[in-house]
Amino acid sequence: MFRGLRLRKRFMVILLIIFIASFPVLVVSSYLILRVNVDREVFENAKVFLFTMESIRKHYGDVTRPAVMKELPERFIVEAMSTSFNARGVAEKVRAEFPHYIFKHISMNPRNPINKADGFEEGIIAKFRADKTLKELKGLVEKGKVEYFYVARPVASKADCLRCHGIPEVAPGELLAKYGSTGAFGWQANQVVGALTAYVPTAIAKKNAQNALILFASFYAAIFFVIMIIIDRVIIGSIIKPIEQFVEVADEISRGKFERDFNVKTKDELKTLSEAFTRMKLSLVKAIDIVRRKQ
Ligand code: HEC
Repeated sequence: MFRGLRLRKRFMVILLIIFIASFPVLVVSSYLILRVNVDREVFENAKVFLFTMESIRKHYGDVTRPAVMKELPERFIVEAMSTSFNARGVAEKVRAEFPHYIFKHISMNPRNPINKADGFEEGIIAKFRADKTLKELKGLVEKGKVEYFYVARPVASKADCLRCHGIPEVAPGELLAKYGSTGAFGWQANQVVGALTAYVPTAIAKKNAQNALILFASFYAAIFFVIMIIIDRVIIGSIIKPIEQFVEVADEISRGKFERDFNVKTKDELKTLSEAFTRMKLSLVKAIDIVRRKQ
């Protein structure tokens, strides 16, 4: 193969074939590896986001609400007393900067209809209820033709939730006036009452992986191109140029001109060849000399 081509072209054609054959393999395998990493990263970010929201809930529930309730035992001030209200508010602020991060409280019978679980989310709550040791669920889900990564963590009730989630008779009047007396009542302590979920569209991960891939593929192509140029220079300098010089000198010798020598600067096979040629030239000079003297 390629025997009809000149040396330099032959090398370049072989390198080009290596490039064309390796490029798709490299691109596909890199994309798969990148996707695994980017997916993990997006999941990790969604988890941190969810954990932050859960911590905000806990902070309001354990610190802010008891402090305000102590001062105003008869009042209900949603901005200071509802963990869900505040976590949702913070999530909205986060979304202003990162619109693809979706946070949701989910509940079967919510107080605020915005927290109503859909069919898929009811399944999540059912799983948390069936296995109390389950602390997290995650995976992929398609909603309205959009694919999302999701992470979910359960919300369990405690005795101090019952003032607002037990029976309506003991709940603050202001709460009943604002939300009514049907949603999110009838709880007992230590039940899974809902869950927190974070969703991130998988398109984000795909786009990140594609961007990284474009960069990586261009880098590979550039490196290959540079290697081709270097190899080309090396072939010209250490093989083609010396051979051309051999041809010229051999040509001159064949015409009876013996002034020029076979010169090779490297210490490789060409050097050995030039030494052999030089010995041949000297033998030829001697032979011609002997012939001349005999005449
Ligand atoms: C001071 C009253 C009060 C207390 C105490 C309280 N909640 Fe709530 N809770 C609310 C209000 C009001 C909402 C609706 C807020 C909104 O999203 O607009 C709510 C909503 C929720 C939701 C979202 C689903 C829904 O029904 O809309 C969950 C989950 C929740 N609470 C869990 C708890 C847990 C767990 C505790 C105890 C650790 C607790 N709550 C204690 C007032 C309270």
